[in-house]
Amino acid sequence: MATELDDSTERLAEKTAAQRSRPGFAMDAYFYRSHRVYRKELDEILFKSWLYAGHVSEVANVGDYFLFDLGEDSIVVVRGADGEVRALANVCRHRGSRICSAPEGSCQAFVCPYHGWAYELDGRLKAARSMELCPGFDPSAYSLKSCRCTVFEGLIFVNCDPAAAPFEKALRSIEPALRPYDLPTARIAHRRNYAVAANWKLALENYLECYHCATAHRAYAKLHTLEAPGQEVERNNAEMLDRAENETGVAGITLRHSAVYRAAPDFGCCVHTMRYALYDDFKTGSRHGRPVAPLMGEFEGYDGGAGDFQLGPLAFMLNYPDYCVLYRFIPRGMNRTDMELVWFVRGDAKEGRDYQRDALTWLWDRTTREDQSLIMRNSEGVHSRFFEPGPYHPEHERLCIEFADWYLEALQRPDP
Ligand code: FES
Ligand SMILES: [Fe+2]
Repeated sequence: MATELDDSTERLAEKTAAQRSRPGFAMDAYFYRSHRVYRKELDEILFKSWLYAGHVSEVANVGDYFLFDLGEDSIVVVRGADGEVRALANVCRHRGSRICSAPEGSCQAFVCPYHGWAYELDGRLKAARSMELCPGFDPSAYSLKSCRCTVFEGLIFVNCDPAAAPFEKALRSIEPALRPYDLPTARIAHRRNYAVAANWKLALENYLECYHCATAHRAYAKLHTLEAPGQEVERNNAEMLDRAENETGVAGITLRHSAVYRAAPDFGCCVHTMRYALYDDFKTGSRHGRPVAPLMGEFEGYDGGAGDFQLGPLAFMLNYPDYCVLYRFIPRGMNRTDMELVWFVRGDAKEGRDYQRDALTWLWDRTTREDQSLIMRNSEGVHSRFFEPGPYHPEHERLCIEFADWYLEALQRPDP
């Protein structure tokens, strides 16, 4: 991939100002090719936002941990001896070795494989071999660095900015719509990473619009009204919303609340929820629209609707009465993005008896594989010398416009 050869702070400032002066137009190739932009994104956006890291079932017991990789960095999410879930930088305070390399595991303490410094589960340095010979060595000054961490409805979010605003207040505003799925006791039925050789913004923008759904996702578009313009589906939605509480047995399931990107209450604290209709008699997001797992949490039936959620700037959920799928985007390099999908089912559901993994994952695995190739083709195109950004669709691509606006504003922050 070509990168910007004549890059500078001034060029970044000029390009950002020029892009902001053309709201409603897709982003210039510069934003996908500049190392300076990527660095600034990590500093000002990704390491300052609330990001989905994992689910409480992944750290069920004291000492359980998993790695959350972000950019070139690695964070250990661990349940401490006091039961608290913490996020610690996976970087030894001696000479910087990664401490954990297994993507998940369980331990009583973290021992650095290089020279054997040992850390408590809360990050405190408990033993540093022979360092008593080092004059004035104070172990309490060498705890693992920590990140902010919050658990909401069983979902673990991490923010690497010590000064970040708390996420809880924003999350509480969508709680009535999320709580009925009982995610704290839910089971992860499947998890899969769909890596794409593309910049994270191309992957995210692809998710933020459904303009492409009718042409590129035939299976999805057959079931979900989200691909059609507002007026055409208003009646479907109104009818579904009318019956939703009755048929699901869940009060408040029709909540609509949206505060994302610049409209979020604080930086990196996006939240959104709405319920929208599936077509015809479809009950859930599956191959034939028929249920694929037992009803979740408080649900007593199907209303022909699906819950749409955003949790922070880079994580989303699609929640059907019988399963939920979480989508998160994680940049791993300027042209490398992890799209991870997590399928949740009811906590007591058993694979083979209550759900078949292939049937459960059919729709979103297929749709995501379609997206993978769309995103890669998009990436090849924006790196072309012939690429000139065209206009976003004002309705179908409205969220891309809102994202770009928020994103460009963050790029304009002065360097620290
Ligand atoms: S780098 Fe970890 S003990 Fe030396
Ligand atoms: Fe898509």
